[in-house]
Amino acid sequence: MRTLAPVFEAIERSALRIREAITNEDTDYAAQSNQSGDIQLKLDILSDLIIAEEFSKVPLIKAIASEEKEEAEELNASGELFIAYDPLDGSSLIDVNLSVGSIFGIYDGEWSAQKLIAAVYVVYGPRTEMVTAYHNNVRHYIYRHGRFKELEQIRLQDKGKLNAPGATQQGWSVKHKSLIESLFSEGYRLRYSGGMVPDLHQILLKGGGLFSYPGTTDKPGGKLRKLFEVFPFAFVYELAGGIAIDEQGTRILDLSCNDPHEATSCYLGSRYEIEKVKRDVCGLG
Ligand code: AHG
Repeated sequence: MRTLAPVFEAIERSALRIREAITNEDTDYAAQSNQSGDIQLKLDILSDLIIAEEFSKVPLIKAIASEEKEEAEELNASGELFIAYDPLDGSSLIDVNLSVGSIFGIYDGEWSAQKLIAAVYVVYGPRTEMVTAYHNNVRHYIYRHGRFKELEQIRLQDKGKLNAPGATQQGWSVKHKSLIESLFSEGYRLRYSGGMVPDLHQILLKGGGLFSYPGTTDKPGGKLRKLFEVFPFAFVYELAGGIAIDEQGTRILDLSCNDPHEATSCYLGSRYEIEKVKRDVCGLG
């Protein structure tokens, strides 16, 4: 039977090298932007190179697509897996020493949400942690004494307490604004750092809540990218017992993707909060 162990090991090696780079390198800007128009830090580029180098050692990987690269790239003609990754998500937070992360979506044979077979993310914070979603389990690891040690499996409760609303309020729709206000009036706490990896990680580990990044007046299709960011986290959330939808109420993992850098609006959370999104934002049910 095929094992993804060599892929997970390559991600672990990459994570340790990126963690080292975050600690030791400057947060200078490179003289270029990525495909999404974000100005790249030298650290974004370095992290991308590290991951591409580690993945090139794994014959099972056929192709990679990175948030930092314009086009997907073939690594091994005889490989099977397509891996999309955001090497250093939230990198603009490094200069203020907030947590950042790397996100990986592992696709079987094509760039399609329906072919996602595993997702992994790494959080670089006061501690380095990794979460893998694969084979019906969401496993949580911490890097300690030279290795990733497995902690508890992650399971979302049906209702949480945290509210992480992305984007500028000025650009929100009336329905989205009223959803967010309604959650606060129910007692939800604001927890938003501006990095989706630590923000979604916090909701997962603290039992539940809602992370939202809606379409806005300046970015009607949303900001977060499907292949590198939203599909992998939707996969993690579903396996943990949560739900992930877009603002029309469509399940994220049923969406199509026609370009590696295509974005979507997204709502990820526990069941109670997503049912509320369906009623209040999508007009369903
Ligand atoms: P970047 O990698 O360019 O710093 O973007 C981070 C992403 C994501 O991690 C986060 O949830 C979102 O952008 C934050 O955007 P807003 O500041 O618009 O809420």
